[in-house]
Amino acid sequence: MAIERTLSIIKPDAVAKNVIGKIYSRFETNGLKIVASKMAWLSAEEAGKFYAVHKERPFFKDLVSFMISGPVMIQVLEGENAIAKNRDLMGATDPKKAEPGTIRADFAESIDANAVHGSDAAETAANEIAFFFPAMNVYSGR
Ligand code: TYD
Repeated sequence: MAIERTLSIIKPDAVAKNVIGKIYSRFETNGLKIVASKMAWLSAEEAGKFYAVHKERPFFKDLVSFMISGPVMIQVLEGENAIAKNRDLMGATDPKKAEPGTIRADFAESIDANAVHGSDAAETAANEIAFFFPAMNVYSGR
């Protein structure tokens, strides 16, 4: 299986709940290595650019407001099948529909404040990693 990298964000709701460590632990116990990380408080411009794919969606404005409501923890995860594995660990977008034991089922309250972001495909992962981290600041866990 291929070693991949994916971009993960612990969103303002989960940072405020003080569960960064608990979420990192899930990555680590499931074979995902943290190979870059930083805390940031995004500007509206940054959040809007990051979620530009959703800019015509009705929830876009609220999504940007939420993402800039507090600091976020941003990381690159590396491991076998990292993109799909992280999506599995996250659970469904709507925490009410997320499988028990997933990050969203355990730490998120609602579809708009849903604890984590994870890239959904190889191309988006590459773009999202480059959006936040210069290549020289992403290390290899191998
Ligand atoms: P999306 O890319 O569909 O979900 P995911 O984060 O699981 O990849 O949507 C991006 C974010 O937009 C989602 O995490 C929360 C927000 N959102 C809403 O607030 N309402 C909605 O109805 C949807 C679909 C998403």
